[in-house]
Amino acid sequence: IAAAELIALGARQARCTGGGVEFESDQEGLYRINYQARLVSRVLAPLAQFDCRGPEDLYHGARAIAWERIFSPGHTFAVFANVRSQTLRHSGFAALRVKDAVADRFRERFGRRPDVDPRSPDLWIALHLEADRATVYLDTSGGSLHRRGYRRQTVAAPIQETLAAAMVHWSGWKADRQLVDPMCGSGTLVCEALMAACRIPAGYLRRSFGFAFLPDYDNRRWATIKHRADGQIRAAAAGLIQAGDVAPQAVSAARGNLARLPHGEKVRVRRCDFQDWKSLENALILCNPPYGIRLEQGGDLAGWYARLGDFLKQRCRGATALVYFGRREYLKHIGLRPAWKKPIPSGGLDGRLARFDMY
Ligand SMILES: C[S@@+](CC[C@H](N)C(=O)[O-])C[C@H]1O[C@@H](n2cnc3c(N)ncnc32)[C@H](O)[C@@H]1O
Repeated sequence: IAAAELIALGARQARCTGGGVEFESDQEGLYRINYQARLVSRVLAPLAQFDCRGPEDLYHGARAIAWERIFSPGHTFAVFANVRSQTLRHSGFAALRVKDAVADRFRERFGRRPDVDPRSPDLWIALHLEADRATVYLDTSGGSLHRRGYRRQTVAAPIQETLAAAMVHWSGWKADRQLVDPMCGSGTLVCEALMAACRIPAGYLRRSFGFAFLPDYDNRRWATIKHRADGQIRAAAAGLIQAGDVAPQAVSAARGNLARLPHGEKVRVRRCDFQDWKSLENALILCNPPYGIRLEQGGDLAGWYARLGDFLKQRCRGATALVYFGRREYLKHIGLRPAWKKPIPSGGLDGRLARFDMY
């Protein structure tokens, strides 16, 4: 689905690889994808690839890159490494070797070097080391795109924005029926549903993108792309999207997060137990039930899921429910046969997404 989304935004030759999607794009497409793609985390542009059998190879490979053509000693940078190799096992150490290589190259040529800023650098460099092959990328997103900017308040175990967006996508929802998250936490699922329904670009609230620091950055082109995408934003009907949560702090977080988005006020958020919804007939239900330690210690987790299953059976006739189980073992307690289920690991957990069609 990420490849299809990228193609719709102008990517060419998109093909799925192990951990992502490879594609080609011109500058306009690159800006559009970074601004509008909901399902991808980072858009990385490969700079160099080389054999790497140890720290020295990594250092020399990274130092051979003409960094001075990309940025200057007045900028800041950071290196983020992702390492799956027997020869270099620690991503922190690998990142450090690349950082030293960049700094040494600048120092040799200019007598000074750019500073490192690990939080908010101008230039984001990514290193992938797979077996004996290193690839150095520029992160044109400038940090993960799941940081949309609306989620400033969170509660325990928020779902990742890109996964929430994928759930909206997989549901096939076209803003044509009521969408409800009856255990909304910080409201990620309803925020993503609102953004999809109102065509709010995924990066609408992001303050900066990595591509803005590249030497060929074209501010006028970026402004045109942004203006065009923002011009597509449309209103949603009040009450089309609704949410609820039993915890008052979750309700306040969800309301606060929604308020940052255009038309966020159209989403109703109630404080209530999911069992207090009188009827959700024919609705689309998207939710991510609790799976935390608190509930386990509080006791009857199996009973909690059985009540959710009963609620779906008895009060949600004609509804479709997409439920993300943070831990797959909870699926069996719901007592319903899913139409499908997908393994989706997230946040270090072996989660499952299941779809239930209620008749
Ligand atoms: C895993 S969190 C949901 C996280 C949310 N998707 C987000 O992105 O922040 C589960 C939520 O279920 C809520 N919850 C637990 N029991 C509930 C109940 N009986 N009725 C409604 N909400 C409940 C919790 O308060 C918590 O906010």
